[in-house]
Amino acid sequence: MRRIYMDANATTPLLPEVLEAMKPYFIESFGNASSIHQHGQHARAAVEHAREQVAALLHCRPAEIVFTSGGTESDNTAIFGILRPGDHLVTTAIEHHAVLHSAEKAHERGVEVTFLPVSVGCAVDPDDVRRALKPNTKLISVMMANNETGVIQPVEEIGRIAAEAQVFFHTDAVQAAGKIPIDVAAIGCHLLSISGHKLHAPQGTGVLYVRRGTRFEPLVFGGSHERQRRAGTENVAGIVGLGKAAEIALAALTDGTDERVAVLRDCLEQGLIAAIEECGVHGAGHARVPNTTNLYFDHLEGEALVIALDLKGIAVSGGSACSSGATDPSHVLRAMGVPLARQRASVRFSLSRLNTGAEIDAALEIIPAAVAHLRELSPANKSTYAQAAN
Ligand SMILES: Cc1ncc(COP(=O)(O)O)c(C=O)c1O
Repeated sequence: MRRIYMDANATTPLLPEVLEAMKPYFIESFGNASSIHQHGQHARAAVEHAREQVAALLHCRPAEIVFTSGGTESDNTAIFGILRPGDHLVTTAIEHHAVLHSAEKAHERGVEVTFLPVSVGCAVDPDDVRRALKPNTKLISVMMANNETGVIQPVEEIGRIAAEAQVFFHTDAVQAAGKIPIDVAAIGCHLLSISGHKLHAPQGTGVLYVRRGTRFEPLVFGGSHERQRRAGTENVAGIVGLGKAAEIALAALTDGTDERVAVLRDCLEQGLIAAIEECGVHGAGHARVPNTTNLYFDHLEGEALVIALDLKGIAVSGGSACSSGATDPSHVLRAMGVPLARQRASVRFSLSRLNTGAEIDAALEIIPAAVAHLRELSPANKSTYAQAAN
């Protein structure tokens, strides 16, 4: 069976060019980037080249790039690196667990935390951010694009609010990088997280952008790697892969690749809405990253649809993919005020440059039939939904 992967917000495969770029760093050029001999210098040059490639994607200085083990570490570093007991953090209810659970842990350690609500469309109101500020506010952390709905947050406006109030601003750009342009100066952030495996680089690689002059306490102590901002021997091959992926992602913003993904996403979304009754898009009407659509199919269980589609060869995700395996309803949809039955009837489709028009056509054959079948199997769902919605 030909499999169709539509879960790129969970992870993406390496692009062949990325793997090719990495290969020499496993065997021939295996040096430790801190060693002073030729082996080490070769590895160091590769790491610094990757730093330049990532800096180009974010429009920052190479020295402002800190390589980490992924989005989770970058988010944790931003939060625990800036906040101390007595400080106040302003964040939102729709952040990824890498921020949400870090904020909860920081709260246990004496940090005051405000979790801002969002609109039904999954957008944070910058005025809510402004109103939440207190004399002890030290950090604002608001994601750039939501991983479940793809809705883009007003980070530039929030950056201006942070600048006026002279507080640090962190944005989790894990689901934005490689999908929409990122310019750290325009955003006005001090810290920004990205993750390699969401943009066709290896899992276990990531970046924390740290604006020049921003003082923070590292999360990992040891050697003086990454200018004493993140200890530990560099993952040279992974970093090389991330650099190459960043270079490709930057080109994709202007060479038509991302536009093509947006066309595929729109075809899928509109085709499903046309073919299926009582189906709609979460976050519709808001600016979204081009690859993501989160749809509800009332009167069925999203998890059942995920399994049914998997059996038909289509990989999608219900709720947040990073916590997939857990069937808890999504905290993002809950924060948007979506009724429980509809939260449970929601499925996320996230595409990448590797999807094709033929795959969308096939999906538009398979998904409506699977939805109809599941709805037939559980007519009771109809009355359950009606009750929950009332
Ligand atoms: C918005 C967001 N932030 C952070 C992460 C965590 O990134 P990583 O898997 O690299 O730890 C994810 C992963 O899905 C994410 O979607």
